[in-house]
Amino acid sequence: MKAVILGAGAMGHVLRDMINETEGIECLGMIEPLNGEKPGDIAEDADVVIDFSNPENLAMMADFAEKRKTAFVIATTGFSPEQVHVIEEMSKKAPVVYAANFSLGITVMLKVAADLSKALGDSFDIEIIEKHHNKKLDSPSGTAKMLARAVNHDEKYEQVYGREGNCKRGNEIGIHAIRGGTIAGGHTVLFAGQDEVLELTHMVNSKKVFAAGAIKAARFACEKEAGLYDMNDVLNLRKNSSAV
Ligand SMILES: NC(=O)c1ccc[n+]([C@@H]2O[C@H](COP(=O)([O-])OP(=O)(O)OC[C@H]3O[C@@H](n4cnc5c(N)ncnc54)[C@H](O)[C@@H]3O)[C@@H](O)[C@H]2O)c1
Repeated sequence: MKAVILGAGAMGHVLRDMINETEGIECLGMIEPLNGEKPGDIAEDADVVIDFSNPENLAMMADFAEKRKTAFVIATTGFSPEQVHVIEEMSKKAPVVYAANFSLGITVMLKVAADLSKALGDSFDIEIIEKHHNKKLDSPSGTAKMLARAVNHDEKYEQVYGREGNCKRGNEIGIHAIRGGTIAGGHTVLFAGQDEVLELTHMVNSKKVFAAGAIKAARFACEKEAGLYDMNDVLNLRKNSSAV
């Protein structure tokens, strides 16, 4: 499998190193969009483009998918609802795996959080806390938004982003973003009840977690028809589950 990496940032480098150590996948090159490079510059015979970059590159990716039908793994976060619609349209032309988090642990956490919310939501308050390094651009993280959707499946709670001043808690889920140092990623869903608290926490110790998930997703995408897929499809978790 021949892969092109879109985005020569921190994740692009971790992914290239991992591809170079992995059997059955070759990196044709890594593209830096801010230098004016495009997938077409090196992706003549690529099987898959793996994107860890910036939402600004979406139009370029959609154009490439339309012309070449190459599989895409989209790991960039921070897309607007309109941009997510562009990804949906793009997936009618080519297989696209799109996920705000490529870790196995988070994929399973989403299902568990949804189940806990169903069981406890009526009597427990739910808050989401996410922690990331000080270079992360988007807040809250795409994963925190996914967790919020998972625990708010029937949209009965308002989402509140941080709190300041006089703000009595309502029928809401509070979402809090912490930024500092080199934290690779941490997410907690906190269920606070009368005299008891249940916390579901996932911590990432290295960015390699996301690179490994993206490679798994790339292998999956290369064998699929055009369509939109996520990590539940890649890990075959959709079967026999009420949560996804
Ligand atoms: N889905 C996941 O599991 C997962 C995991 C880690 C990171 N990410 C996401 O991947 C993306 C990249 O993360 P990173 O840590 O490598 O970031 P980074 O800042 O190190 O690299 C960002 C890349 O995007 C390019 N870029 C930045 N601004 C741009 C612009 N305005 N126009 C075009 N290109 C631009 C940069 O040149 C660079 O190549 C982020 O959106 C991050 O949130 C997703």
